[in-house]
Amino acid sequence: MGAVDRERWDARFAGLGAGEAGPPGVLVGREDLVPTSGRALDLACGRGTVAAWLARRGLAVDAVDVSPVGLAAGRELAPDVRWIEADLDDGLPVRGPYDVVVCQRFRDPALYPALVELLVPGGLLVISVLSGSGDTGGPFRAPPGELLAAFGHLDVRHHEEGHGEESLLAVRGVGGARGF
Ligand SMILES: C[S@@+](CC[C@H](N)C(=O)[O-])C[C@H]1O[C@@H](n2cnc3c(N)ncnc32)[C@H](O)[C@@H]1O
Repeated sequence: MGAVDRERWDARFAGLGAGEAGPPGVLVGREDLVPTSGRALDLACGRGTVAAWLARRGLAVDAVDVSPVGLAAGRELAPDVRWIEADLDDGLPVRGPYDVVVCQRFRDPALYPALVELLVPGGLLVISVLSGSGDTGGPFRAPPGELLAAFGHLDVRHHEEGHGEESLLAVRGVGGARGF
C-alpha cells in the first residue's frame, strides 16, 4: 500500500472520529460463537470498533491497521487492546495462535492460508469482503464465492453473499492430516 492510500484512510477516519464498539455485521445474532476468553486478532481493524467489542467480551486483543488515525480512534475506545500500526502488504506483524481471527472488509487473497494458520484448532474465523455478487463488480471486489472457495475446507458455520458483500464464519477443525 502506498502512502497515498494510507493518507486516504487517515482522512476518511479523521472525519468520523471514534466509533462505537460492536461486533462484525456477520456475527450479529451469532455472538455466542465467540469465546469470552483467549486471544483475538482483528486485521485491518479500521477505527477499532470490532477490536474494542472483542476486548469487552473478555478476549486479549491484537488489532492491526495501516492508518494511525484509525488506530488512535480505537485506542480511545479500548486502551487495553494492543494497537499495531503495520502495512499488511509487508506480511503479518503478529504471531498466533489466536482463538478468534477477524478480517472485515479488507481483501488480500494472498493472506488467506495464513489466516487459517493463525487459528488454534477449534478457533473461529470471521471474514467478509466486498464482492461482485449482486453488485456491479470492480477492481477491488472479490469474484462471487471467493471466501467459500478459500475456506470451504473449514467447518463453515455460516456463509452469506449478496448486495455486494460475501461473509463467512468458520471454525478450524481439530483433526485431519492437513490440520484444519
Ligand atoms: C473498509 S475498511 C474496514 C475497517 C474495519 N475492518 C471495519 O470493518 O470497520 C479497510 C481498512 O483496511 C485498512 N488497510 C487497507 N490497506 C491496508 C494494508 N495494506 N495494511 C493494513 N491495513 C490496511 C484501512 O486503513 C482500513 O482501516
